[in-house]
Amino acid sequence: MAKSDSQFSCAHSFSRHLPEKIVTNDDLSQRMDTSDEWITQRAGIKERRWVEAPMTTSDLGVQAARQTLQLCENKPVDAIIAATLSPDYNFPGIGVQLQHKLGLPHVPAFDLRNQCSGFLYGLEMADAFIRAGTYSRILLVGAEVHSTGLDVSTRGRDIAVLFGDGAGSCIVEAQTEESLNYTDSFTVIDSELHSDGEFVKELWCENVGSAHWPVRVDAEMVAEGRIFPQMNGRKVFEHAVKRMAEVSLSLLTKHGLSANDVAYVVPHQANLRINQMVGKQLKIAPEKVWNTIEKYGNTTAATIPIGMSHLVEEQSLEKDSFVLSCAFGSGFTWGAGLLRKC
Ligand code: UT7
Repeated sequence: MAKSDSQFSCAHSFSRHLPEKIVTNDDLSQRMDTSDEWITQRAGIKERRWVEAPMTTSDLGVQAARQTLQLCENKPVDAIIAATLSPDYNFPGIGVQLQHKLGLPHVPAFDLRNQCSGFLYGLEMADAFIRAGTYSRILLVGAEVHSTGLDVSTRGRDIAVLFGDGAGSCIVEAQTEESLNYTDSFTVIDSELHSDGEFVKELWCENVGSAHWPVRVDAEMVAEGRIFPQMNGRKVFEHAVKRMAEVSLSLLTKHGLSANDVAYVVPHQANLRINQMVGKQLKIAPEKVWNTIEKYGNTTAATIPIGMSHLVEEQSLEKDSFVLSCAFGSGFTWGAGLLRKC
């Protein structure tokens, strides 16, 4: 559906927080049968950050969110949207923990479960709330602690080497002269989101879940490693390339744009080879595809705001330049978001 033109939203104050502990590929090869060569060639990852206890997903989210709130001079937010696949607890989600730990008033806190697409789902939701006039300044956070939920034995090596911990955040605000004054301010032009639940079991963590009866988890499931994420890597790879390219082209075409009109693509970071292939399909120069995977791995819902925070720090984008983001992940879910520098 075409979006209402009455009120635009603007995303700004992108921030990130990464745990200090760096885990290199060589560190992992001490714990499982893997190598720096395999991980670098297959995925493009050299290192990732893993938390040291006791640090939870909401703790990381709070650290990123504090920086975002400071950047916007602690102006009051009237809603929180939090995206994660690794909440501190089975329930409630981390939205309420962000509200409490940040000392915010009793604003609504939404939790999104859209994995690697979580941030783009959150951006679409925030933008819709702004356009509808429901809220005017929304704190949007993506945060993950993967490291304590991975099988770090050789059995889990196909997944364990890919994931990192981290958090990213921004404000999505009804566009006013004031919001346009932030140095990293972007008009949210549009987004396009999709899902296909046929592929639930191609990338999932089945426990702890209500699909199990009469108990949700037992010793056998634990022994079999069914408490850890499982992935059909090749199938996910194939779908990721196809869907990220397809949704990006669809969104650009809808706005009469081609990849040449885009200053940067900030894609999800699951595998460097996926992003190189998406770049080729979009016919965009490799240096315009903004990657952070080498040092952070895949931080799921935190990935895109982390990438955006690096982009605005390291590049001076001209006014009106377009930034396109796209993501694909468990569900399957995928999507793209189009921003224009204010
Ligand atoms: O964020 C959500 C989206 N996630 C993704 O998009 C991830 C998509 N998938 C991928 O990125 C890739 O499929 C992987 C990086 C996970 C794997 O790369 P691949 O080229 O598809 O390798 P493969 O799964 O076909 O495995 C090739 C070999 C296997 O050994 P055999 O059967 O050929 O003897 C694996 O057992 O590599 C082996 N292998 C490893 N070897 C060393 C798997 N993981 C590792 C490892 N270290 N960590």
